[in-house]
Amino acid sequence: MSATSTTSTASTMSTTGRPLALVTGASSGIGYELAKLFAADGHDVVITATQRAGLERTAAELRAAGAEAIIVEADLTDYDGVEALYAAVQATGRPLAAAALNAGVGLGGYFVGGTDLQRELSMIQLNAVSQVHLTKRLLPDMVARGSGRLLYTASISGTMPTPYETVYGATKAFLISFAEAVKSEVKDSGVSITLLMPGQVDTNFWPRAGMLDNKLGVGEKAKPDDVAKEGYDAMKDGKDRIVAGMMSSKFIGNVINNVAPDTVKADLHAGQARPGSGVKE
Ligand SMILES: NC(=O)c1ccc[n+]([C@@H]2O[C@H](COP(=O)([O-])OP(=O)(O)OC[C@H]3O[C@@H](n4cnc5c(N)ncnc54)[C@H](OP(=O)(O)O)[C@@H]3O)[C@@H](O)[C@H]2O)c1
Repeated sequence: MSATSTTSTASTMSTTGRPLALVTGASSGIGYELAKLFAADGHDVVITATQRAGLERTAAELRAAGAEAIIVEADLTDYDGVEALYAAVQATGRPLAAAALNAGVGLGGYFVGGTDLQRELSMIQLNAVSQVHLTKRLLPDMVARGSGRLLYTASISGTMPTPYETVYGATKAFLISFAEAVKSEVKDSGVSITLLMPGQVDTNFWPRAGMLDNKLGVGEKAKPDDVAKEGYDAMKDGKDRIVAGMMSSKFIGNVINNVAPDTVKADLHAGQARPGSGVKE
């Protein structure tokens, strides 16, 4: 699949003067909540994911809030899917005031003898490669205009090695390093770049990653609307990053992971993420 695009109104040109935002992974979870926050804050929104049904649900919510919703079905693991999403944004003829680059997946299991390589490579494409690709397309327009906001959904998983979701944490560490580097390059441009770094959030992420049998999967989680709001507010304030969600996540992301060696962090995470660790005897 590359991409197909539809809009909830006859024209994608703004008739209201509302700013335009993009949210990837807007069909569920944190992205769904971010899209609603953009709409409530006066934006029209380009929403994208692979599955139409979820996007239609989000579009209905945005329309109810008075926003225009432009649906783009796109598989962001695919180079052509990212290009088609960018083409759909350009086809609106409107500048992007903000983009929440949020789509991502996880994958739990034993790296040796457990997880599937193709799923891991696909996850790298989505969580890391598509973020570079979209940034390469979106950021130059923002820099040329001297305004715009980018919000990346990373994770506290990017601040530690993550055994039993080994490749996932590495994708988020890549994203954090990449976003920080780009931010430094454009710091005087008028464009803000913010990292949203949640701990565990109650979304489809966990069943999709096959992680319902470990301590993290069965444990307490933050609500996606609260996490999205923390990220949205941080983006509006032009903050560098926000560790969002439960107090325990904030303690891990803001304190422990800043001081503990990687080997210690890896062992702590392994105890929480080992397959079967959440199953009662
Ligand atoms: N939940 C957590 O505990 C947690 C913690 C830290 C960080 N995060 C991060 O938060 C972000 C959002 O995840 P979530 O928790 O809200 O999970 P979610 O509810 O599963 O949302 C994932 C979103 O990504 C989209 N997506 C998946 N594969 C895609 C693809 N190939 N191309 C385009 N879109 C795709 C999904 O839509 P379709 O299925 O329709 O494609 C969905 O809209 C991810 O980057 C995740 O890594 C989550």
